[in-house]
Amino acid sequence: MRRKLAAGNWKMNGTSAALAELNTLASIHPTPDVDILICPPAPLLSRAANVTAQSQITIGGQDCHTAVSGAHTGDTSADMLLDAGATAVILGHSERREDHDERNEDVRAKARTAMNAGLVTVICLGESLAQREAANTLDIIAGQMSGSIPDQATGENLVIAYEPIWAIGTGMVPTLEQIAEVHDFIRVRLERRFGEGVGRSVRLLYGGSVKPSNAAEIFAVPNVDGALVGGASLKAADFSPIITALEQS
Ligand code: PGA
Repeated sequence: MRRKLAAGNWKMNGTSAALAELNTLASIHPTPDVDILICPPAPLLSRAANVTAQSQITIGGQDCHTAVSGAHTGDTSADMLLDAGATAVILGHSERREDHDERNEDVRAKARTAMNAGLVTVICLGESLAQREAANTLDIIAGQMSGSIPDQATGENLVIAYEPIWAIGTGMVPTLEQIAEVHDFIRVRLERRFGEGVGRSVRLLYGGSVKPSNAAEIFAVPNVDGALVGGASLKAADFSPIITALEQS
């Protein structure tokens, strides 16, 4: 059985004042039936980890470098994330693929380093609107999977987030059939590449404009094991009903 996961991606939002949201979230969900992961910006990581230390909420980074350490000004290593109290890291988010020119092979190298360090990796995949309209979605997903996911992936160190780029921060959401099609496709490919045991144990998150009002129907889709939530993860009042919907799914 895959344990469901509600993951929040704060992106470049939040200063110390936002830590109160974690306190609130922890007090509303003292013993959740699902995993809860919040990925705040790097400067907040250790304080976020302190605030949530006595709770069931875990903390993750939003990126890490391919190298273990060295002359890479402005970057953060996987070990630094761990040292700050993170247990997971988001990799290959479409905003990083776009803003920082990250290619599949970069994501794969980062994932290898993060997995070697002992972090859970949340690897993001997803097509652009033009790619969907050209009926290329499944080809794009297949290429991103084989290019971005390292061979050492297991159900423990890999989570996949399917995030159609056109659904991120736009309020546009694919149909439930479209979500099901991609999630089923990812599951089959995982099983084929890693074997049934590993393939069935990797959690598949949907991401892109998840909110309290649409969470329950998305969580009812087969092979959706949770969500990666951006905007609606910033406030406990928005994220909490999404967690509850996942618990009830
Ligand atoms: P959104 O972002 O929920 O604000 O659409 C999701 C994401 O980019 O992870």
